[in-house]
Amino acid sequence: MAAKHIFDTPPAGVAADWTMDQNWRAFTPAQHATWRTLFDQQSAALGGYACRDFLRGLDILRAVEPGVPDFAALNRILKPATGGWEIVAVPGWIPNRPFFEHLTNKRFPAANFVRPPDQIGYSEEPDMFHDIFGHVPMLTNPAFSEFLVAYGQAGLRAEAMGAADFLGRLWLYTVEFGLVVEAGELRAFGGGLLSSYAEALRSLTSAEPRRIWLDIERVMRTQYHFDEFQRVYFVVESFEALLRATEETDFAGIYARIADQAAIAPEDAFPGDRAYEGPLQPVRAGPAFMKEAARR
Ligand SMILES: [Fe+2]
Repeated sequence: MAAKHIFDTPPAGVAADWTMDQNWRAFTPAQHATWRTLFDQQSAALGGYACRDFLRGLDILRAVEPGVPDFAALNRILKPATGGWEIVAVPGWIPNRPFFEHLTNKRFPAANFVRPPDQIGYSEEPDMFHDIFGHVPMLTNPAFSEFLVAYGQAGLRAEAMGAADFLGRLWLYTVEFGLVVEAGELRAFGGGLLSSYAEALRSLTSAEPRRIWLDIERVMRTQYHFDEFQRVYFVVESFEALLRATEETDFAGIYARIADQAAIAPEDAFPGDRAYEGPLQPVRAGPAFMKEAARR
C-alpha cells in the first residue's frame, strides 16, 4: 500500500486534535469531477446491494452541491438528521486516541484529500470519498450511530489496556466490511464494501468467501487482509443486535482471554462458528464498469 497520508504528529496547519480547515475552495475542478464520477457510479451500482438505511442516507449527500462536499454545508444537514454527528476534516490516518475521542463526541473524521483520477476503481488508501460516501449514510441509523459512540468509548479503554489491535478487528469486520440481513436478504453496510463496488459484489454474491454470524470474541481473534479482498465476512442480524452485543460484552474479559491465544487466519474455520447459510445476492446486469469490476 502506497499510503502517503500517515503522520506521527499533526503536520503544519493541523490542530492538536488532528482536525484541520477543510479549505473547500482549494479543491480543483478535476477533483470535483473525480468525486462526481465515483458518486454516480457507486450510487447507481449499489441499489439492491447496500442496506436500506445506507441507501436512504445517501440523500444527505445528494442534498449538497455535487462534487467534493463542503463539510460546513454537509454538517448543517447531517447534524439534525443524525442526532448530532458532524464531519471533521483530518489529514489522513490519525492515531487511535484522537480517533476514538472524535467518535465519542459524534465527530466523524474524514480524510481531506481525494484519490487521483487513475485510482477511481481502487484507491490505495482511504480517501475522502471512502470516508464520506462509505460511512456518512450509515450515521442516520440510530443504533449504528450509537454503536460508533460505544466503539469510541471502548477504544479509549482498549488504548489504556494495550488492546486497541483486538478492538480494531471489530471495526474492520463491521464498520468496514460488515454484512446485515434485511428482510431475508444479505446486504452490505461496511464502508469498505460500499465505497468499492468490486468487493461489495464479491461479499454478497460469491460462494468463495466465508460468511459467519457475528461473534465479538471470534472477530477479535481474526486477522484480516489490507491489500486484497477479505476472505471472511461477518453478518449481523440487525444494527440493534450489534449495539446490544457491544453493550453486553465484557471486552476487557475478551482481551485477557485472547491475549495469549493464536490469532485465527481469515480463511480458517473455527470451532463454534455459526456459518451464514442464507441466500446470496444475484449478480445483476449493470453498466459496463460493473461487469469489469465483477471479473476482478
Ligand atoms: Fe473506513
